[in-house]
Amino acid sequence: MSLAREGLVAIRRTAARARAAREHTGADRVDYEGAWDEYARVWHARNPKLGHIGDEWTGEHAGAASSVEEYSQLIEDRYITPYIQSGDAVMEIGVGGGKTAALLKKHCAELICTDISAEMLKATRDRLGDDGVTYVKVNGIKLSGVHPHSLDVCFSFDTMVHMEPRDIFNYLTQIPKLMRNRRLCILHHNNTLSEFGWKRFLSEWDKNLMGRAGGSFSVMTNDLMARFLDHLGYEVLLQDSESIPRDCVWVVRAPER
Ligand SMILES: C[S@@+](CC[C@H](N)C(=O)[O-])C[C@H]1O[C@@H](n2cnc3c(N)ncnc32)[C@H](O)[C@@H]1O
Repeated sequence: MSLAREGLVAIRRTAARARAAREHTGADRVDYEGAWDEYARVWHARNPKLGHIGDEWTGEHAGAASSVEEYSQLIEDRYITPYIQSGDAVMEIGVGGGKTAALLKKHCAELICTDISAEMLKATRDRLGDDGVTYVKVNGIKLSGVHPHSLDVCFSFDTMVHMEPRDIFNYLTQIPKLMRNRRLCILHHNNTLSEFGWKRFLSEWDKNLMGRAGGSFSVMTNDLMARFLDHLGYEVLLQDSESIPRDCVWVVRAPER
């Protein structure tokens, strides 16, 4: 190959790498989508006795409950009933198989289910149907497909525990322009520095070196979330790190945009 040709190839390669970085298509990204699509695909074979995806998330490892019923009751009593009104439009980020979405649906007028996994959205649709519920597949970068100023409440449970802090921050930058009226957000993430969080960290650190699996827990703390929220202008109404001892749940008001 001539020198000029080699130079051209090198320039093209550099440009392609820069484009990939800009478009977030780098090979080192966390594959949340692949991990959760696969989780949904093999779920029935792994859990033949359970009815719905999510029945296996009992809250036990979080120190919060000992059965899925008890965990769901806690979520409904502490974070749904006090904050969601019957006329509200509510978005859940990361609906999974619809365990929490089923609770939200009882309390609101309109439910917008978002998820990065098409398989999970399908599982939720099979469970909840289309009456008062819409389904939005997101790509992990943009919360697109949700109309600006269309939501009274943004809810996320058992999802940010898996998301990298920067990915959480990225969503937090986009939520405000989607909100209207009370602009309430109920957001749940893990705290690696809690006793249960540390136990979880020790159980999977060596499986997540030089990158990580999409279904693993992230390394996240309450102080980091407090900094994110403060930086972006969210008003903190409640920080609950007791109800689910491994984690932290925030009730915050998004800034007006
Ligand atoms: C453990 S499930 C939680 C399900 C549900 N919130 C519940 O309470 O049963 C986590 C869900 O978050 C979704 N998820 C993971 N990363 C995401 C991201 N960056 N954006 C949107 N959804 C994501 C996964 O596809 C999965 O369905």
